[in-house]
Amino acid sequence: MLHFALDYNDIVIEFKKKVVVEGIPIMVTLLADKVYAIQDKCTHLGGSLSKGTVENTDVKCRLHGAKFDLKTGNVIDKAHVGFIKMPTKKAKVYRTEVIDGKIFIEL
Ligand code: FES
Repeated sequence: MLHFALDYNDIVIEFKKKVVVEGIPIMVTLLADKVYAIQDKCTHLGGSLSKGTVENTDVKCRLHGAKFDLKTGNVIDKAHVGFIKMPTKKAKVYRTEVIDGKIFIEL
């Protein structure tokens, strides 16, 4: 089911925005001409991915460096403290759709 998240005009390329849809915190970002949505809570220790860094099609958590593919949620790089890698699970991604200038997320 599609749920309204925000207006398309409210985001610009590589801008990250946290929205809460049906009680679920989700990070939304625009890359090139596609809108991506991924769970905002990092799977490591819950850091907010919307406060992280978007590079290419990945988002990097600012707390311990876990990096996730925005298209699949796959872990690109595990969380780490120094050289010690920590268990990091795949993140949930959501399908997005832009309809009449509004961004919807499928839950
Ligand atoms: S909370 Fe995101 S890497 Fe640790």
